[in-house]
Amino acid sequence: MAQGDRVQSEAEVAAVYDSTADLYADLFPSTEPEQPIDLAMVAQFVAQLPADQREVLDAGCGAGRMLPVLAAAGCRPVGVDLSAEMIRRARQDHPEFPTRVGSLTALPYPDGSFDGVFSWYSTIHLPDERLSDAFGEIRRVLRPGGQALVAFQTGDGVRDVAHGIRRRGIDAVLLRHHRSPSHVARMLRDHAFDETARLVRGPVPPEVDGQAVLIARATP
Ligand SMILES: C[S@@+](CC[C@H](N)C(=O)[O-])C[C@H]1O[C@@H](n2cnc3c(N)ncnc32)[C@H](O)[C@@H]1O
Repeated sequence: MAQGDRVQSEAEVAAVYDSTADLYADLFPSTEPEQPIDLAMVAQFVAQLPADQREVLDAGCGAGRMLPVLAAAGCRPVGVDLSAEMIRRARQDHPEFPTRVGSLTALPYPDGSFDGVFSWYSTIHLPDERLSDAFGEIRRVLRPGGQALVAFQTGDGVRDVAHGIRRRGIDAVLLRHHRSPSHVARMLRDHAFDETARLVRGPVPPEVDGQAVLIARATP
């Protein structure tokens, strides 16, 4: 079966991240994979939030490496992730930040809880239909005028990106959905977001894919 025909359940994705949480957290304790221009988009996202309204959900926070980055920029971040092991590691490494297990497609927070939602490479395992659910949830938990940031690998199609994990002896398949920035921007528009900033860049080795970061404001 072509990978493009495959859809991986959230339980399968969570199981892969559960089995690699310590590996991931040890390899990338902070912003080792990011380029300066990526971090400039994080700074831009924070700068576009009013100074007294910076409660931010790191949605798909993994082991929490971006929580201190958001806090250092002036946010009050909380984290949520599908993988219980990622959250265990986030609590171990970053106990000062509240974190919980939950899915982007059913965020465990009331309507209007946050000024910003930060999704740093966490929507990449969702097929379009589920991404639409996630954008609906992100919109729901934002306060009026709140902002979302979405980072992802560009391109198209679905790829198994678990080769690095398998090389380390863990038997896993992890499907990643590649999208064009304009496709993601259109989906955000469909969920009542206005795009305010966009980064699109080519791969910087060892990356093999282009990268994009979109920032969008929830329309009133
Ligand atoms: C590539 S990692 C990025 C983690 C973190 N944002 C970082 O930059 O270190 C993707 C993360 O998204 C989480 N994830 C995947 N699908 C999710 C979903 N539906 N809801 C919440 N988290 C999800 C995974 O468990 C994993 O921790």
